[in-house]
Amino acid sequence: MLTQAENELLTKVGPGTPCGEMLRRYWYPIAIASELTDEQPTKFVRILGEDLVLFKDKSGRIGLLADHCSHRGASLLYGRVEERGIACAYHGWLYDCEGNILETPPERNDAIMKSVKQTAYPALVHVGLIFAYLGPKPVPPMQHLDTLFRPDGHRKIVTHGVLDCNWLQAMENSVDPAHAHILHQEYVGGKGKKPASTTRGYIDEIEGFEFYLLDYGIMKKRTHKTGAVDEHPVVFPHILRQGPSTQFRTPIDDEHTLHIHINFTLTEDGSEPADAWEPTEIQHMEPHKEPADKMHPNTHFTQRNVIGQDHMAWETQGPVANRPAEHLSYSDRGVVMLRQMVKEQIEKVARGEDPIGVNRDPDHPIIDTKVDEDIWGGRRVGEIGYKRDETEPASSGRS
Ligand code: FES
Ligand SMILES: [Fe+2]
Repeated sequence: MLTQAENELLTKVGPGTPCGEMLRRYWYPIAIASELTDEQPTKFVRILGEDLVLFKDKSGRIGLLADHCSHRGASLLYGRVEERGIACAYHGWLYDCEGNILETPPERNDAIMKSVKQTAYPALVHVGLIFAYLGPKPVPPMQHLDTLFRPDGHRKIVTHGVLDCNWLQAMENSVDPAHAHILHQEYVGGKGKKPASTTRGYIDEIEGFEFYLLDYGIMKKRTHKTGAVDEHPVVFPHILRQGPSTQFRTPIDDEHTLHIHINFTLTEDGSEPADAWEPTEIQHMEPHKEPADKMHPNTHFTQRNVIGQDHMAWETQGPVANRPAEHLSYSDRGVVMLRQMVKEQIEKVARGEDPIGVNRDPDHPIIDTKVDEDIWGGRRVGEIGYKRDETEPASSGRS
């Protein structure tokens, strides 16, 4: 368990909070690139507790600016995009993608143009997603994860909408391999199979779990009684890599998290397909609860697939899990390890150091997260009779 103060330390994501400052050292997916069109070139986004407007100007540049105009605060969501940036709809103050004020109609106010800057963050398009960095300069490169940077495969985007809970609940689940055999027992067992005990699910097929530190996060290792072993890394702080899927949990604010997956499938012959850097498909999953805009207990979680079960578990812990009330057991040691890692990275950032996984070499090698091993228990997922719900994307299986 944690004290209330520790719980707040690890879960508050806003600007100026210790964890928020640490989380700002990483790049996050914040939108799908194709959402910005000529007809709808702006989109409101809240990321790490900041209200922002994402836009594509008529030169094709992506901008990410504070929502409220520096003049008198109207939203730039309604701004008009131009070649040079975005003009506030109210009085026309024109901003470029770096937040510089280029015009101040009706007059030209040089003093303001020189001294005032709209808050602006770098944003870029990669593999069909828009990624943003909300931290201080110098801006580090994105981590070169294999599933995002290897050229020899196809990518599909799967969105799971907004989770109505804090980011850490989703990430703690990613270092909690025991839950998969119990919470997901209907899907682990395979067609027509029922576990001997619904209390224990298929956990007795597992010999044990281990966790070890990586230079970019935590590896969890599962050893089956058959002797088979599988490993899935958490890429600190916001990514679960599992099989072909890269599961991003982007903190929106303290109580909401954006959940987007990229599924990366290698080509059979190792060739680079023409569309390697574009998503072959964008799939928006149905909400995992009905009604979708309500919170537990005023909504019903469908649990019609693995991720739906996870959403049930994460959200019903509360908007921010009440960690002072929990009782951790031996199988929660991955959770303890992750919390310790969050705490240590907060301390590093407070000392002026880079946290784990930030690599400032723009040519740093691709990070191998075992994308060649789409396995479960040492066997390919397709070989184990793993029962998939039809509504479940191919990669959302294990965690
Ligand atoms: S409020 Fe934006 S230009 Fe006046
Ligand atoms: Fe799960």
